[in-house]
Amino acid sequence: MACDKNPEKITKMFDEISSYYDQMNNLISLGTHYVIKKIALQNLKIRKNSYILDLCCGTGDFTQIISKIAPESRVIGLDNSVEMLKLAKMKNPQKVFMQGDCTSLPFMENEFDFITIGFGLRNVENRKKAQSEIYRTLKQSGKFLHLDFGRHGFGGKIFDFIVVLMTKIFKLNSGNYLYLLKSKNEYPEPDELIKEFETQGFKLLKRQDFLFGAVSYQIFEKFYREK
Ligand SMILES: C[S@@+](CC[C@H](N)C(=O)[O-])C[C@H]1O[C@@H](n2cnc3c(N)ncnc32)[C@H](O)[C@@H]1O
Repeated sequence: MACDKNPEKITKMFDEISSYYDQMNNLISLGTHYVIKKIALQNLKIRKNSYILDLCCGTGDFTQIISKIAPESRVIGLDNSVEMLKLAKMKNPQKVFMQGDCTSLPFMENEFDFITIGFGLRNVENRKKAQSEIYRTLKQSGKFLHLDFGRHGFGGKIFDFIVVLMTKIFKLNSGNYLYLLKSKNEYPEPDELIKEFETQGFKLLKRQDFLFGAVSYQIFEKFYREK
């Protein structure tokens, strides 16, 4: 049976795991998630004074990294989970965070120079709607960074093993972590996702895979789409 991605359930789950989300991310990725986020954001080549929207911002890692690499930029973090947002605000007291759903963005057309989403889109029930909202709110020729799990092969299997091990060692709510594995293994691999983004009006500029392909980011540019 496919993962239940009912937005209320997903939000409740992230509210519940928020207090140990960062520590577990560090453990299960052996610290690599932060390095990968940093490399991806550096390759986005954010220009001075850009306006950036970080969707599914969680505990605010992207915002923290963007503040370091592009300190003059204006960043807004958006997430459905209030508990995750509280932690994001603690990590980034000067930055703006708001509760919201990435499938219905409270922004005008063509507002942002850059939009980012890290390990977020996989959890969204209506992925196509989120993609079209990203397209709508991004400026013409604006850039979009998508980072998430990648191919399901060797690297993916090692990751699954580590998650199960950590869940047992730290006696974590195994239901939440089973969701993580299931959503990861159901999520389209990058080749397929790229085609999906292209049909929405994005052009692939760069892709980089990590950890034997288990994690991948892609950078796209918005180009004109015939309605
Ligand atoms: C795995 S976390 C990723 C957090 C952060 N971007 C990171 O890389 O560490 C996924 C986040 O997406 C949020 N989320 C899931 N569905 C959402 C939606 N439809 N709209 C906004 N946020 C959503 C969750 O609340 C959660 O904080």
